[in-house]
Amino acid sequence: MSTKKVAIIGAGNVGSTLAYTLASKGICSSIVLKDIKENLVKAMSLDISQAANAAKSSTVVTTASTGACLRGCDVIVITAGLPRMPGMSRNDLLLTNAKIMREVIEEIKINAPQSIVIVVSNPLDAMVYTALKVSGFPRNQIVGMAGILDSARMSHFILEKLGYGAGQIESSVMGGHGDDMVPLPNFSTVAGMALTEVMTQDDIDEIVEKTKNGGAQIVKYLEKGSAYYAPAHATSLMVEAILNDKKEVYPCAALLEGEYGYEDIVSGVPVMLGKNGVEKVIELKLTSEQRTLFAKSVGSVQELVDALYENKFFES
Ligand code: LAC
Repeated sequence: MSTKKVAIIGAGNVGSTLAYTLASKGICSSIVLKDIKENLVKAMSLDISQAANAAKSSTVVTTASTGACLRGCDVIVITAGLPRMPGMSRNDLLLTNAKIMREVIEEIKINAPQSIVIVVSNPLDAMVYTALKVSGFPRNQIVGMAGILDSARMSHFILEKLGYGAGQIESSVMGGHGDDMVPLPNFSTVAGMALTEVMTQDDIDEIVEKTKNGGAQIVKYLEKGSAYYAPAHATSLMVEAILNDKKEVYPCAALLEGEYGYEDIVSGVPVMLGKNGVEKVIELKLTSEQRTLFAKSVGSVQELVDALYENKFFES
């Protein structure tokens, strides 16, 4: 039986679905849910606790009414942040969510400075960077969820095209969680077979484009808000890998400290996750075209980070 404690900050669709996933599977002994929307978080905690009881799971789910409820957490997942509203520029969203991130991180620093933090809020890579800078934590302690989600989307599109291989598809995506993410067909397989063995280059190119557009496609259908089942499941894999010190390798957003030739910027890279969070960043041998695409993706994240500095965000 697990004795681990997880906090989820932000009880919107992703946060509550993640809590439900962790509680149903009994991945930790305790989950605290925190949100500024008091009634929402109370409703979610009750509903998910009752679901856990129905599932005969031993995970206890409660509402965190104060920052002190974060004490003793092994992992804290941050999903808090505003979605983009009509009329809001990307930079407006960036600054708004960076301010929310700062408040959350300050609470974590006081109450759970030992915890491993998983950031899910968007714009993802810039939010991971913000959390690292505001906290002063070492890079192993803060990691972002995006690559598992983007890879799952790629696997979906491969399955859709092939019509077989469900559950046997391994996909790989690197770079920032944005329009210029870098799907890696040459590191993707179907039951161990290279993609080029089972489909044409045109099909692969189509899958790459669909993967990049995967999140936007769902936003378009939903009209309000973004996907949550796949983001929540992807995050649950990271929580589980950290709590159980699994040393699993997943694509995650991490601070680069010289890897791939970059420093002081966050991007999606293969990461080994264990009890200390980011225990290793793995450097894949990219083709020169992939290196160029990765550079473009890193550049887009850098623009957002630069906007934070230009707005003197880290000085206030
Ligand atoms: C997505 C959002 C959650 O990709 O970033 O669906």
